[in-house]
Amino acid sequence: MRSSSRYGLRAHHLAVFVSALFSVWACGVNEGGPEDPGEPTLSWTNPGSSAAPFPSGQGGRYGFGSPASVTDIAVWDIDISPNGAGLPSGGSTVTEGLKVYQKKCMACHGPTGTEGPFDVLAGRVPGDEFQFAEDRSLRSTVGSYWPFATTLFDYTRRAMPFDFPGSLSDEEVYGVVGAMLFLNDLLPEDAVVDSATVAEIIMPARDRFIPDDRTGGPIIR
Ligand code: HEC
Repeated sequence: MRSSSRYGLRAHHLAVFVSALFSVWACGVNEGGPEDPGEPTLSWTNPGSSAAPFPSGQGGRYGFGSPASVTDIAVWDIDISPNGAGLPSGGSTVTEGLKVYQKKCMACHGPTGTEGPFDVLAGRVPGDEFQFAEDRSLRSTVGSYWPFATTLFDYTRRAMPFDFPGSLSDEEVYGVVGAMLFLNDLLPEDAVVDSATVAEIIMPARDRFIPDDRTGGPIIR
């Protein structure tokens, strides 16, 4: 979960960067306007070159960069909402997902998701109790802690495998998400996993979280 927000932050930074870029252009376009007739208008060329415009024709103030195209933005715009909005088409099965898991996840998370060496992915607290604040020995897992499988899809697709994030196809992600749900006794071994499965499954910890609707105050930074 921590990584999820870290990667989220990166996407956020890109958005800030992109909007900063647009405001830089906006300034450039406004310079040399009617109130300021003496000032030269910025030209869209690389100042260091022989005034040849950039291939895109958009050198900008600093002589580098190009506008983010719809395709550029689409690569980063992959967030999935708790209700499943944003989930890709296609799907897989738990059986296929277990094969992907063995090849690409098991070395770090163990054969059944409980052995490590890294984060424990599987295991439920008896009665699906949620005593994490009181019992420090409890390890959170996908089955005991994650409120939505949609978040699991989003996180896995953007952050795992840890050493090669972003390398899984959507089918592989559907598969390993199914495998993780199976290892937590939340799906049968013969289940199909697609957007409906991921959006509709009710995770044991779903009602343990409340929406953060705070909009201000000293606690919000
Ligand atoms: C090279 C080791 C490595 C591999 C391979 C790997 N992981 Fe991970 N995984 C990690 C580490 C380390 C973390 C903890 C990351 C963090 O906290 O920022 C993690 C965290 C996770 C979590 C979050 C656990 C939680 O409850 O917070 C999930 C889910 C997960 N991995 C799924 C997968 C899946 C699915 C695969 C295979 C596609 C995979 N991992 C492959 C190392 C690995």
